[in-house]
Amino acid sequence: MEYRAIDNRYEQLGTRRSGRSGLQLPLVSLGLWHNFGDSTRYESIREMILGSFDRGIFHFDLANNYGPPPGSAETNFGRVLRDDLRPYRDELIISTKAGYLMWPGPYGEFGSRKYLMASLDQSLKRMGLEYVDIFYSHRFDPNTPLEETMSALDAAVRQGKAQYAGISSYSAQKTREAARILRELGTPCVIHQPSYSMLNRWIEEDLLDVLDEEGIGCIAFSPLAQGMLTSKYLKGIPEGSRAAQEGTALSRDLISKERLERISSLNEIARERGQSLAQMALSWVLRKPEVTSVLIGASSVQQVVENIAATEQTSFTTEELTRIDKHAVDSDINLWAESSRY
Ligand SMILES: NC(=O)c1ccc[n+]([C@@H]2O[C@H](COP(=O)([O-])OP(=O)(O)OC[C@H]3O[C@@H](n4cnc5c(N)ncnc54)[C@H](OP(=O)(O)O)[C@@H]3O)[C@@H](O)[C@H]2O)c1
Repeated sequence: MEYRAIDNRYEQLGTRRSGRSGLQLPLVSLGLWHNFGDSTRYESIREMILGSFDRGIFHFDLANNYGPPPGSAETNFGRVLRDDLRPYRDELIISTKAGYLMWPGPYGEFGSRKYLMASLDQSLKRMGLEYVDIFYSHRFDPNTPLEETMSALDAAVRQGKAQYAGISSYSAQKTREAARILRELGTPCVIHQPSYSMLNRWIEEDLLDVLDEEGIGCIAFSPLAQGMLTSKYLKGIPEGSRAAQEGTALSRDLISKERLERISSLNEIARERGQSLAQMALSWVLRKPEVTSVLIGASSVQQVVENIAATEQTSFTTEELTRIDKHAVDSDINLWAESSRY
């Protein structure tokens, strides 16, 4: 059946500006890392994308390697674009990235200009797009001059293949350097994509200050700690969940008894606030005005609907914050932050 977007789609979810740029994002954005590759039914993929757009999520985040197999999330997203979302292209913010392993040899990963430019061309082809809205360097490359990696982002924008340049998981110091280089090239760095959640707070140390000073926005990935900051694992590991699948970044060992006790306590605080744990986890990230958007993953439209409601209550009392710190901080702190420390 022909898709027509719901007329009041911009009424539910607010937007925030990315730093001091013209880029505005919905408070909740949808990432296609998991559940959008060829191992997921196409109808489910289509439903999640269109169901999100109907509810005000106009930003979809991809990367060259999302799948499985790598590249298939972009291909599937491209199909939804072609069949359903084409009339809405000018409303959409579509991002992609290059940095992780995509093909064999020295030019199949990291930050050389050759890899970034080739990868972007492949991404555009898979999605059937002339340009993406944001092109990211997915990770800092310690062996390539930062000038070279940034020159590729600048070239992508100048060639009309990307509207904006962004970086992901760069440390505060490398972010400052990247921002300076891009500024000198005449293409500002408008957005940074770091991990951030109640269990992973590395960006509070110094990155948020740098982003504020440089006027760069922040889109926080894995705000639900890949599903751990929801009620789903409180009674065991459900079939089909991310932790139940082989080869994901959420291993079963992470769902330890000790961590579950903490998560139960967080769940209780959420209940007292009248929220689900997933909603409180997202509200907690959004309490920071420097955060432009929370970048969630999902395996159903119901999850998206539940998560969007987090935006209705993003303030916390001091007492609530203290109680959250008591249960979320300690051995858990900075889980998954290692990859963000270059
Ligand atoms: N730049 C980078 O290096 C990088 C790295 C990682 C991710 N990302 C981006 O960030 C996006 C989000 O990452 P993420 O998927 O780890 O985010 P997340 O929001 O922390 O976790 C998403 C998972 O949580 C579960 N979930 C979501 N809402 C739920 C709810 N209401 N109730 C119960 N469970 C719920 C689902 O797990 P189930 O599938 O088990 O149902 C879902 O797949 C990615 O798609 C990608 O775009 C970027």
